[in-house]
Amino acid sequence: MSNPSTGLILGIESSCDETAAAVVRRGSEVLSNVVASQIATHSPYGGVVPELASREHLRNIVPVVRTALREANISLVDLDAIAVTNGPGLAGALLVGISYAKTLAYALGKPLIAVNHLEGHIHAVLLEQAQLTTNSEADPLPFPALALVVSGGHTHLYLVHRHRDTWTYRNVGHTVDDAAGEAFDKVAKLLGLGYPGGPWIDALAPHGDPTAVPFSFAQVKPKAHRPGRGGGTDATSTLFSFSGIKTAVLRYTQVHEMAARIQTRRIGLAIDPSLAKAVALSDEQTLNLVASFQRAVVDDLRRKTFRAAEALGAASLLISGGVAANRELRVRFTAEAVDRGLPIAFPKMSLATDNAAMIAAAAWPKFLINDFASQTLTADPSLPLGKAASGPLNPL
Ligand code: KG4
Ligand code: ZN
Repeated sequence: MSNPSTGLILGIESSCDETAAAVVRRGSEVLSNVVASQIATHSPYGGVVPELASREHLRNIVPVVRTALREANISLVDLDAIAVTNGPGLAGALLVGISYAKTLAYALGKPLIAVNHLEGHIHAVLLEQAQLTTNSEADPLPFPALALVVSGGHTHLYLVHRHRDTWTYRNVGHTVDDAAGEAFDKVAKLLGLGYPGGPWIDALAPHGDPTAVPFSFAQVKPKAHRPGRGGGTDATSTLFSFSGIKTAVLRYTQVHEMAARIQTRRIGLAIDPSLAKAVALSDEQTLNLVASFQRAVVDDLRRKTFRAAEALGAASLLISGGVAANRELRVRFTAEAVDRGLPIAFPKMSLATDNAAMIAAAAWPKFLINDFASQTLTADPSLPLGKAASGPLNPL
């Protein structure tokens, strides 16, 4: 076992549209957490342009890592390991972080640790929990935990077991089409709102009536779907589907002839992309549509997650990923968890969306068991989290 004398890990994350670096001590104490966002670059396109993302990562990686070290008040030689996201994500974007991390590790003679982005999101919750536990002596979360990772690229459920420093993940649910965050982004785009769409919808929804437009979700039958690389699609898997609601919103705007209003909003927000402007440019029907969309997505996630938690005997819930920043989601999940007496944890807002502190935190248990990557490490755009990535599963 490595000697965790100082336990300083540099995390590097570049899987999508954020170039991030962070220094975390012993998997729990965040010394720095730097994120260079590419929102301004991708905004005009209403989504991430992979080629532009790679270029921006190349531009940002050196200053972001330097800033993370400076803010942590350490230098490269103080590090115990370099951790980097190796998937899932955009190949070109991942490769920037991986190449930089490999070079640093080689030049410094330090271990390199590969971290699955989804495992990082799960550890973002535990990082916060670890801080809470240290600071307030609150009870740590009991395991097994059911983790919902809900972001722009993913809507996954994992049953998480922890045995000392070994973590195992069993994929027990996923989306069969769009991720929930993708639905937020696409609906925001078609309503003439900004990018990424989640924060805009989150901010507008409280101004509308969430019961005004009745959306429904088709029930997806697990047996109709073959197991993917993530494994886990069997008769007991929980399946999500968010492409239908996006189409339903589009149809609603067509039936109610909202095109001119949407175009006015799009032009107005291009000049003044502020929330106040978005509210001013949204009539009651639009605000009701936004509120109803958000309520429908949050309730679908909530119902299926709690149903799976009960069926699998989960002792706690961990909710993470960009959509876990949604305020209505936090309120409604927390209310049901309190009703059921089920402990629930969310990362704090800055750790919900992509960051590198979560990557350094997820690397800590791997550091303790010498689970190091070689210099042949490369990007795996569809890297699964589960049996293939984390060794043998624990029985339920
Ligand atoms: O985890 P993340 O930063 O990147 C991925 O791994 O995808 O998640 C980004 C996603 C975007 O789809 C964004 O619209 C969504 O998270 N998001 C939100 C909120 N903040 C970010 N969705 C709903 N409500 C929010 N407040
Ligand atoms: Zn993410």
